[in-house]
Amino acid sequence: MRKYGKILAATTLAASVGFGAFAAHNELTVQTNRPGAKIQPTMYGLFFEDINYAADGGLYAEMVKNRSFEFPQNLQGWVTFGGVELRNDGPFERNPHYVRLTPASHAHKHSGIENEGFFGVAVKEGEEYRFSVWARVPDGGEAKLKVVIADTKSQGESQNIATKHITVNSREWKKYTAVLKPKVTEAKAKLRIFLERPETTVDLEHVSLFPVDTWKGHENGLRRDLAQKLADIEPGVFRFPGGCIVEGTEIEDRYQWKNTVGPVENRPTNANRWHYTFTNRFYPDYYQSGGLGFYEYFLLSEEIGAAPLPVLNVGLVCQYQNDKEEAHVAVDELDEYIQDALDLIEFANGPVDSQWGKLRAEMGHPAPFGLEFIAIGNEQWGPEYVERLKPFVAAIRKAYPDIKIVGSSGPDSEGDKFDYLWPEMRNVKADLVDEHFYRPADWFLSQGARYDGYDRKGPKVFAGEYACHIKKKKWNHYYPALLEAAFMTGLERNADVVHMATYAPLFAHVEGWQWRPDMIWFDNLRSMPTASYYVQQLYAKNRGTQVVPLTMDKKPLTGAEGQNGLFASAVWDGDKSQYIVKVANTSAEPQELTLNFAGMKKNMSISDGTVTTLQSDDLDAENTLDNPDLIKPVETQVSVNGKSFDTTVAPYSFAVMRFNVKK
Ligand code: AHR
Repeated sequence: MRKYGKILAATTLAASVGFGAFAAHNELTVQTNRPGAKIQPTMYGLFFEDINYAADGGLYAEMVKNRSFEFPQNLQGWVTFGGVELRNDGPFERNPHYVRLTPASHAHKHSGIENEGFFGVAVKEGEEYRFSVWARVPDGGEAKLKVVIADTKSQGESQNIATKHITVNSREWKKYTAVLKPKVTEAKAKLRIFLERPETTVDLEHVSLFPVDTWKGHENGLRRDLAQKLADIEPGVFRFPGGCIVEGTEIEDRYQWKNTVGPVENRPTNANRWHYTFTNRFYPDYYQSGGLGFYEYFLLSEEIGAAPLPVLNVGLVCQYQNDKEEAHVAVDELDEYIQDALDLIEFANGPVDSQWGKLRAEMGHPAPFGLEFIAIGNEQWGPEYVERLKPFVAAIRKAYPDIKIVGSSGPDSEGDKFDYLWPEMRNVKADLVDEHFYRPADWFLSQGARYDGYDRKGPKVFAGEYACHIKKKKWNHYYPALLEAAFMTGLERNADVVHMATYAPLFAHVEGWQWRPDMIWFDNLRSMPTASYYVQQLYAKNRGTQVVPLTMDKKPLTGAEGQNGLFASAVWDGDKSQYIVKVANTSAEPQELTLNFAGMKKNMSISDGTVTTLQSDDLDAENTLDNPDLIKPVETQVSVNGKSFDTTVAPYSFAVMRFNVKK
């Protein structure tokens, strides 16, 4: 493969002299009379993990860090002034810590606490923010609280940009709320709560601040702009909550879904395996509040139209991080873990008079969530995975024979672990096998035909985590996104074997990321889709319902030798009566293309259509928060008369062509 840096010159030259200069001619045939496999509604989806501050500090709209004072250093994220005591006999059993504000000594004007938020408390002018706190006056009387959103100047000089007063007047714990409306936009504000004069001792627990305007208006809600970007993909499946966080570094850190349902005040804080980046940068304040929990994940799946796909711990911790045998759960001690899986299915689908279905109903969703899939284990490997998976499969099959089980092929796209696990997954009769591949450009360029030779009878493929990265750079520039588009033609052509595919990871905060590339980047006020996001969106929105063979010289286009760097696939969209052809040109040259629609009935033809193109002359170009629209799909109308269509596919571009059929 040529180094992509050198190809830039050719791209520019080709563009400047017009496509005709180097264009090779390619004649492709869409075999309309040979419709192939059904394309699953779950084919293109999303994978969410709390990495890169994707949940707390990201999608989960809570703005207060360590709201329950349960980080290992209980006052992490907080500054205190005056009389403040940490206590641990609070009203919420699983989050017992709270703070007591007592009258300030002469050295301080007031007693109070200040929260730094996640990389600041970011507020927008004129928007409303709902503050809430659980409080009581332990000695009786009335305590007056002043709640302030303040700008970031030092404490003495700072400006209050929104203020509200709350009176706490009960000896019993009660929830108090106030809505604040900042008069300016501020990315790095702080939240302060002061005890006003005359100072009466007051206890505070679960201090929270949310925008009122969350996704769908839910109070324990999601950041609207981020959730909207997920919906805009039109995903078919939503995998959650990880990733490595399902496993944990120690078994007690594993993601436990039962800790993430019920009242948010009583969901315990959990460690996050992503304290560390792969370069060992440490994020000491990265914990999971559980506020974005399994109920919220199911609800989000429903609201964005995606099938939920929860991943559960199989009794193994992250094998990368901790390979000590004693760190894992013994095979004969898995009952609790298996019960978690069975109870989860009941939580999602069970009747409202079942134990877990009742909780779902109490949380606001009496109707079942319609769970169809469950994944057991993330990137596990070796016999230790298989021997643990087996009893899960047996128990789930017995209780819920219709639920489809997703097993793992390990962390690698090929090699020993992969070769060992695939036959084992066949043996245990997994319905789908989760494959992961974070791989460089040459891998993606060489894998156009990856699934052509897969066994058609065994488990189906779930390409559960993948992204192309250019060694060392690993950012979201254009070229890897183009190669993802090229590779995905192979997923689509093999839709009889590949039933799901989800790019990863989904979100990254520009001030706190552990992994890249990622699909959507954000700061506290803004967010932007990457070129990879648009590739995923183009596939999901143009999924179609049935594969149609598309050949050049009777062979599929996989970018292989002699195919001018072209990758392509075609589908029939039965809902709209349209053919959709996707072509990725990974070469530096423009490619002339004649699309012939073969096998059409005499009275039928192609009338018109659209061509949507993702293209950049600069392969290193990337969208940024300041320039979010640099790379985005551009749609043009085309007219077609008859049964063939001529076009030129620009160098390094991805084109999605939709054609109407005329009778
Ligand atoms: O997406 C980041 C990580 O990559 C996931 O947690 C893990 O499954 C994979 O190794």
